[in-house]
Amino acid sequence: MYGDLAPWWPLISPPEDYAEEAAFCATVLASAAIPVRKVLELGSGGGHNAFHLKAKFTMTLVDLSADMLQVSRRLNPDCEHLQGDMRTLRLGRRFDAVFVHDAVDYMTSEADLRRAMETALVHCRPGGLALFVPDDTAETFQPTTHHGGHDGPDGRAARYLEWAWDPDPADTWAQAEYAFLLRDADDSVRVVHDTHRWGVFGRHVWLRVLREVGFTAEVVTEQTTEDRTPREVFVGRRGARNPG
Ligand SMILES: C[S@@+](CC[C@H](N)C(=O)[O-])C[C@H]1O[C@@H](n2cnc3c(N)ncnc32)[C@H](O)[C@@H]1O
Repeated sequence: MYGDLAPWWPLISPPEDYAEEAAFCATVLASAAIPVRKVLELGSGGGHNAFHLKAKFTMTLVDLSADMLQVSRRLNPDCEHLQGDMRTLRLGRRFDAVFVHDAVDYMTSEADLRRAMETALVHCRPGGLALFVPDDTAETFQPTTHHGGHDGPDGRAARYLEWAWDPDPADTWAQAEYAFLLRDADDSVRVVHDTHRWGVFGRHVWLRVLREVGFTAEVVTEQTTEDRTPREVFVGRRGARNPG
């Protein structure tokens, strides 16, 4: 989805759909003990959250996929974009806050989740915070079937079906199958099937690993008017005197 299909991302999950969630995340980000101006987003994708957050913060956007960064650059030419892996990125500078939205779902083992949290910690100024927004925890995960998609101003249109379930609730990942119908401006249509694995960790794992890497950890329930279960988001606060 994040390679060849990247140019379709704005038709699959358009920036307007992120406005309410981005406003909630902005409030949490601004709750740090220091003034929050510079925010690092890990796994920024098409930059659809950043499109809203950049009104309040100076955003540095990092993603694994060059194609997704290209989509985001078009939407957010005013933001810094860098290619990198949230498990290994080391920019050698710190930010007032670090934001990891649904891209954290791609951490499918506790070891990878820990690496992403360590990356957040080393890029977070003392007094700052890291906000992680997984789609689900082990407590909230439900098998789901969703569909969606939009028509674009350029004549293209996309529709998709998302079907997610957990093959083994005893491990740390669930599976999602996507079927995409992609209609080009010349009315030709192709179908693409894509399989994803998402990390699913218990609340206690999130909180424990955040503490183990050096954050003070808390869970906050999202406020939303959307017709879905509110997300549980995880906040790691970096103490003013933490070493590292
Ligand atoms: C659902 S998209 C994010 C969409 C984003 N919330 C937005 O506002 O457009 C997930 C993104 O995670 C990125 N990703 C997956 N694994 C990653 C990793 N290890 N490091 C950085 N980015 C990663 C993918 O390339 C993809 O762009």
